[in-house]
Amino acid sequence: MYNMIMIWNELKKPFLILAPMEGVTDIIFREIVSIAGRPDLFYTEFTNVSSYASPKGRANALERLTICEAEKPIIAQIWGKNPEHFAETAKALLPLGFSGVDINMGCPDKNVNRAGGGAAMIKTPELAVECFRNAKKSTELPVSIKTRLGWSRVEEYRDWLSTLLAEHPAALTVHLRTKKEMSKVPAHYDLIPEIIKLRDKISPETKLVINGDIKTKAEAMELHKKYPEVDGFMIGRGVFQNPFCFTDHIATREELMNLLYKHLDLYEKYNHHSYEPLKHFFKIYVNNFPGAAELRAKLMETHSPEEAREVLKDA
Ligand SMILES: Cc1cc2nc3c(=O)[nH]c(=O)nc-3n(C[C@H](O)[C@H](O)[C@H](O)COP(=O)(O)O)c2cc1C
Repeated sequence: MYNMIMIWNELKKPFLILAPMEGVTDIIFREIVSIAGRPDLFYTEFTNVSSYASPKGRANALERLTICEAEKPIIAQIWGKNPEHFAETAKALLPLGFSGVDINMGCPDKNVNRAGGGAAMIKTPELAVECFRNAKKSTELPVSIKTRLGWSRVEEYRDWLSTLLAEHPAALTVHLRTKKEMSKVPAHYDLIPEIIKLRDKISPETKLVINGDIKTKAEAMELHKKYPEVDGFMIGRGVFQNPFCFTDHIATREELMNLLYKHLDLYEKYNHHSYEPLKHFFKIYVNNFPGAAELRAKLMETHSPEEAREVLKDA
């Protein structure tokens, strides 16, 4: 019997998840969040199944799927539109140490959608189902889905989420916006009761995870009080404002600086290709104190972790 390994049943309700974020939640940042205070579950950034399935793309795909012991349990998120490639990729994930497979059906990125993946799957429900089934039959791991309410209209959620729930995914994460809304409007919390009803009616065993605008553990707990039927909450951009967002702890400036040093060390350890993307993270640690903007500006001028450490020492 497949799907016997069931991380989702082991998580205590309400569980908290760090949202997958391309270019952000890589192995380095996941370790940083672990140090600050880990969520119950991590997700990787999304990996393209056709990359994994191609001889040229495999090394890159495997790099994205590199994990370490400390971040387990962790789910691998995958995307694409080729059902065979979903099967091939899903099959590889258990030996790599993952506790589950998640299919991205919500990404609004133009290139991803043009390639038929992410939120574009909302417009091709039959293909979405085929990809899900192919992944599910190829692995013992539980297969979950992360999606949005619809492509352009909020009301699409009824048919779309019903179609997905009929496949009995291990978990369904709903980012409470349409693709068209991107992140420009507030998340539609008012729909949570209706979504709970759909889940309870069609697939009561599916864990329901709510995502969108939740910034801290405290906010997730507030939502839990209001909607106790929701199993888990996923925090994305909140972690930029506070890497300690999965705890009740209020970080001191010193703790944030220590995390920044650790981030620089981990960058060197994992030998990432370009220094530039690292600069996006400075704002997380150097923020909200007198002189922070000036210090950040100096850090932005650096070209290596050694230079960044020098700037920090002088400051
Ligand atoms: C920089 C960035 C990258 C993202 N990459 C992914 C991704 O790879 N997979 C995915 O399912 N969602 C991705 N998302 C969406 C988030 O997982 C989440 O659904 C969204 O940010 C809403 O949650 P929030 O309001 O807590 O940030 C990304 C979001 C951001 C801001």
